Amino acid sequence: MSTEPKKTEPQSGEDRVIHEVDGIQEYDNQLPNWWLATLFITVVFGVGYFYVYHQAQLTDLPNAAFQKESERQAAEEAKRTGVVTSAALLSLSRDGTKVSEGKATFESTCAACHRADGGGNIGPNLTDGFWLHGGSPENIYTTISKGVADKGMAAWGPQLGSDRVQAVTAYILTLRGTNVAGGKAPQGTAEN
Ligand code: HEC
Repeated sequence: MSTEPKKTEPQSGEDRVIHEVDGIQEYDNQLPNWWLATLFITVVFGVGYFYVYHQAQLTDLPNAAFQKESERQAAEEAKRTGVVTSAALLSLSRDGTKVSEGKATFESTCAACHRADGGGNIGPNLTDGFWLHGGSPENIYTTISKGVADKGMAAWGPQLGSDRVQAVTAYILTLRGTNVAGGKAPQGTAEN
């Protein structure tokens, strides 16, 4: 059995640069390959992640994806139970087909009073952030369904049916805050 103390320094260190600072010596050792591989994979992943989520925006960030999925489920729930929620209406406002259905109804039925672009005429401007009866999706749906009888806004629910009122609400949600040129002066409370 050898009684030699264990050597902690490499036997042949001539090809390695030794740094010495305050008496502490350090060899310029090669980083292990597994370590370098991990570093490079991380860098490539980071660049890829940035490109996919932020640059090209090929897909939704997790929060947005979660919100969309919740709204989609709320929309399904609304269909099943007949209860119309804000989340369900927001989901419809992202559905191009529904929105164009709503736009068609708006142009044929509502434009006379609210102007074709929603800028307002007899009825209020629907493109500003001000609302007389609330600017949440549910509020807008309720106002359209039930109307404001004493102010000249009919109850459209019975005439159009819930589906078409939902579609026209979805369309109005896409107008919110677009502030079209030459629109009617704001009425009501600032909301969004
Ligand atoms: C005959 C005119 C007229 C028509 C047609 C009409 N509206 Fe209105 N609308 C009004 C008036 C007037 C008001 C404001 C009521 C008030 O002063 O409380 C109003 C209010 C609204 C509001 C609430 C705005 C707010 O600030 O809270 C919404 C939303 C709306 N209308 C949507 C529609 C939709 C959708 C249609 C078509 C299906 C429609 N309106 C058709 C006259 C009309």
